Amino acid sequence: EKGGYDYFMLKEIAEQPRAVADTLLGRIDAAGSLTLDEVRIPDSVLREVDKVVVVACGTAYHAGLIAKYAIEHWTRIPCETELASEFRYRDPILDQRTLVIAISQSGETMDTLMALRHAREQGAKVLAVCNTNGSTIPRESDAVLYTHAGPEVAVASTKAFLTQLVACYLVALYLGQVRGTKWGDEVGSVVRELSEIAREVEEVLETMEPVRELARSLADKNTVLFLGRHVGYPVALEGALKLKELAYMHAEGFAAGELKHGPIALIEQDLPVVVVVPSPRGRSVLHDKIVSNIQEIRARGARTIVIAERGDEAVRPYADHLIEIPRTPVLLQPLVATVPLQVFACELATARGNEVDQPRNLAKSVTVE
Ligand code: F6R
Repeated sequence: EKGGYDYFMLKEIAEQPRAVADTLLGRIDAAGSLTLDEVRIPDSVLREVDKVVVVACGTAYHAGLIAKYAIEHWTRIPCETELASEFRYRDPILDQRTLVIAISQSGETMDTLMALRHAREQGAKVLAVCNTNGSTIPRESDAVLYTHAGPEVAVASTKAFLTQLVACYLVALYLGQVRGTKWGDEVGSVVRELSEIAREVEEVLETMEPVRELARSLADKNTVLFLGRHVGYPVALEGALKLKELAYMHAEGFAAGELKHGPIALIEQDLPVVVVVPSPRGRSVLHDKIVSNIQEIRARGARTIVIAERGDEAVRPYADHLIEIPRTPVLLQPLVATVPLQVFACELATARGNEVDQPRNLAKSVTVE
């Protein structure tokens, strides 16, 4: 049932192009507009939404952090993303015009379920983004957009994450479409780019051998740091989470702009630091800033592992290891930038002799608060 792979995780990483394509299937019509018929919240209600709140845990929370960038950019509706376990305990401000998006692979995570119950009690509308048909979270929500990753067996979430991203982009674009926001014009071109994405994920998968080799060479390290900016920041958090849970290594993700506010003190000789570089197009200011971050940490002895768009020559001189990914629109980059980090964590865990599919102390679905 592992389809010839040693671990479910490897199989699930390899299934990502299909999972992404399946999650898009039937949701984009021939004219390039979105039809999310299953989202039973009427367009009239969606037009009135004045705030979006995303709640989730772990990897799903990282998808939610990326959703915030997409939702605010394409809809101009304020959006916050919060850990489900923190949400209800601060008595959040919610009403009928709040749309809460609850993201969960299993649909059974108790923290997320309790957050959505609280939101509905306050009158908010809840849309679940979920991978498991008929599970509790979609049953208790006003509507559900299913991710079509197929069953995810490995404890560490991979293909579910990519499909959660796709679902969040679809929701953001759909909200932009029904509300006719200025950025709604972008919907058509982004939708076209989304339909290319499965092929681009495939391309990344075909070039992972150097990443595996690099991971094996780091098996005796104690710490790996991850830096990113904009949508690359949640990608850095996700890379660090994968490494913690699989390789049992100290790993931390930072927003690169925060380096100078403290974390740069951690940099020492030969410390591996993974940097997710934003596209040099569009957000070029950010790109320049992250290039100087790479220079700064390298000058202090860090071993830089740089994930950058193919053809990004500005980073090359400062990258001890360069991992190239395809060009995508700025907001979609996490779909291709996360894949090398999954492969990296899986290979490092294997090199350290860890059980990849069943990391110690973890369960696939966390049904206690
Ligand atoms: C990490 C991981 C966990 C889950 C989290 C939420 O690889 O698997 O962090 O993402 O427990 O689970 P779901 O999505 O089922 O609510």
